[in-house]
Amino acid sequence: MVGFENSKISGCDSTTVINLDQGNPTAFQEYWTKMKERCLVVIPVWELMSYFSDMSNVCWFLQQDLAEAIKALHREIGNASTEERYIVVGTGSSQLCQAALFALSSLSEAKPLSIVAAVPYYSTYEEQVSFVQSQLYKWEGEARTFNKPGPYIEMVTSPNNPDGTIREPVVNRGGKVIYDLAYYWPHYTPITRRQDHDLMLFTFSKIAGHAGSRIGWALVKDIEVAKKMVQYITINSIGVSKESQIRATAILNELTKTCRIKSESFFEYAYEKMKSRWERLRWVVDKTGDTFTLPNYPQAFCNFFGKNTSTFPAFAWLGCKEENDLESLLKEKNVLTRGGDQCGSDKKYVRVNMLGLDNDFEEFLHRLLTIRIPKLL
Ligand SMILES: Cc1ncc(COP(=O)(O)O)c(C=O)c1O
Repeated sequence: MVGFENSKISGCDSTTVINLDQGNPTAFQEYWTKMKERCLVVIPVWELMSYFSDMSNVCWFLQQDLAEAIKALHREIGNASTEERYIVVGTGSSQLCQAALFALSSLSEAKPLSIVAAVPYYSTYEEQVSFVQSQLYKWEGEARTFNKPGPYIEMVTSPNNPDGTIREPVVNRGGKVIYDLAYYWPHYTPITRRQDHDLMLFTFSKIAGHAGSRIGWALVKDIEVAKKMVQYITINSIGVSKESQIRATAILNELTKTCRIKSESFFEYAYEKMKSRWERLRWVVDKTGDTFTLPNYPQAFCNFFGKNTSTFPAFAWLGCKEENDLESLLKEKNVLTRGGDQCGSDKKYVRVNMLGLDNDFEEFLHRLLTIRIPKLL
């Protein structure tokens, strides 16, 4: 371990609110600041004025260069098959998740379709499913105890948000599965196989931190599903920003071009960054005795790095040993996190964003060291 005993965990004004609730991925800004000139995008004002990109493509608003950049990066990293699949681009994978729910449920004979996910799940799924009060689908929560007959959709997030575990479907009764692979990249988890499912979602937000561009993509096997997803996005936003697609293309191409050059590779940099943050967090949790818990992750051979690596999730699933409301305890220290109950789990857990700014992360560690959990009678 890297001598944490000697490393300083700095403190700042304890009244400053540290927001680690949302998964805002600003941790990698330093890398991109150094890359300043390398993927600068200049767009003349008279370009990109049309709604349309390629009317011969099922996804008519997808820029061909972005499709090529997506395929090239997946090929190089080895994390997903793109062959014999349609690429559907979306305004973030949030839009694509809703498009996929629409597509799969509108193509199903029985409605409303049950939507489930194993606890703890990404809290936004529940919001996305319930918010619109659709007649097409209905949120049914915990997948492990789901026993309603009939068709269903299971959301499988791997590595999982919020607890970083590697996941497979749990219902296994012939329903549809949406694989959300937002974090299946080598700096978060070992790449052990090329994912090859019917419907896979990826987001530009979490690969290298460009959430503001609002780009995501789906890899879809079935043309009818792809067409329905495109129909949803057409009605919802008449396509996806071309400026964003062009910026994403430049950045994805840079990731691919440099990924094998150790001194320049984003993935090498981000792996070290995530590893260091996790080591520091584990050190602090250790220092607090048996106050807090963190999941442990097995090592595995990463095909991309060519060595054994561990999982360093984008979120920490922090627990406390007593049956306390950990979100409230942290809030008293002006640290905002997402309570485990929002993820279908327990209030003694919180989801902590591990992708925030350096200063916020350091300050979070500092405050964690000062927390005492009251003993319940
Ligand atoms: C598992 C998962 N899926 C999807 C998203 C949404 O990503 P996007 O920014 O592309 O909408 C997130 C964002 O935190 C996420 O954690």
